Amino acid sequence: MAPSFDDGNSLFNFVVRDGNGVKGMVDSGLSTVPQAYMQPPIERIDKDRARKHGHPPIDLSKLGGPEHDEVAKQIVRAAENLGFFQVVNHGVPVDLLESLKDTAHDFFSLPAEKKAVYRDDVSPTPLVKYGTSFVPQKEKALEWKDYISMQYTNDAEALQHWPEEIRDVSLEYLRTSMSMVRKLLQVLLENLGVKPEDSMIDVLVDKKMVNMNYYPTCPNPDLTVGVGRHSDMGTLTILLQDGIGGLYVKIEDDSKFGKKGEWVEIPPVPSALVINVGDMVQVLSNGKYKSAEHRVRTTSTKSRVSIPIFTMPNATAKIAPLPEVVEKDGNTLYKEFVLADYMKNFFSNAHDGKKSLDFAKINSA
Ligand code: OGA
Ligand code: NI
Repeated sequence: MAPSFDDGNSLFNFVVRDGNGVKGMVDSGLSTVPQAYMQPPIERIDKDRARKHGHPPIDLSKLGGPEHDEVAKQIVRAAENLGFFQVVNHGVPVDLLESLKDTAHDFFSLPAEKKAVYRDDVSPTPLVKYGTSFVPQKEKALEWKDYISMQYTNDAEALQHWPEEIRDVSLEYLRTSMSMVRKLLQVLLENLGVKPEDSMIDVLVDKKMVNMNYYPTCPNPDLTVGVGRHSDMGTLTILLQDGIGGLYVKIEDDSKFGKKGEWVEIPPVPSALVINVGDMVQVLSNGKYKSAEHRVRTTSTKSRVSIPIFTMPNATAKIAPLPEVVEKDGNTLYKEFVLADYMKNFFSNAHDGKKSLDFAKINSA
């Protein structure tokens, strides 16, 4: 029996504690958004006022060919300005992208009890976590999103522990994405004057996670967010989004990409993947590359899925701006820290734009 969603406690118990998710709440029949999901006016998304990011996707098949330098420049420029770009000919088979989206829909359509076994406190494995919103215990307004997160350690453990309904496509996605991620990092590091040794790239992408996000249809999209303003904490994120749209990025500084503070939409492009720069790349580059502040809107017409791969260094890694860059710049914007400490701070606070980076800033209060 679905509870009254007007009562914050019973809503929390049903959606979060018992693992029914936003999906369970919507399926129980809902004509308006419960109070717990209403964003303060400043966080609401005015979709009619956002511009679409019109840059064509970058063709990665040209890396290593006669047009290498031009393509490398496009990647660098995007990472320096918006922190977001789209790529095609990325090496991930296009039919796999279709299967991933279908599989995500199928997974979230499973009965709640099938998904709820992976809730944080009861999951049979630390590698897999099913949840809703970001940090529900801390958020003033909840996010309209359910997700499952799968950490990668090695193939054998993934085969053993990841949910079997989504395991094989997710592993194949990860397997076919990683050489693209490495090539992108090579380009970004070379441009910083750093020799991109394989061993260094190994460190930057040591940890990998495949998530599936599910944004159910929402009766009041103007009052809610799918994901609130945040940057991703890791190295690079690879994101597969479906055709629904609603992913927005904030322009950090005035540039040819737009005006400071403006939100632009990253429109769905068939067979493309979205790449975004995470906080670690901003730190390593001493601020040259921008981790992008982004958020997702909800819609009343169709549920949306997205499937990100997060890459990051190992939790024990020490992170600081690269010495070559600091030497050239003559200053350092970020202190050295252990990644585990950064993560702890990141995952214990509600999303709040790029505030996560304050943890690493020198002279921050
Ligand atoms: C995320 C995220 C965007 C999307 O999972 O960190 O920003 O389009 N997702 O779902
Ligand atoms: Ni994100």
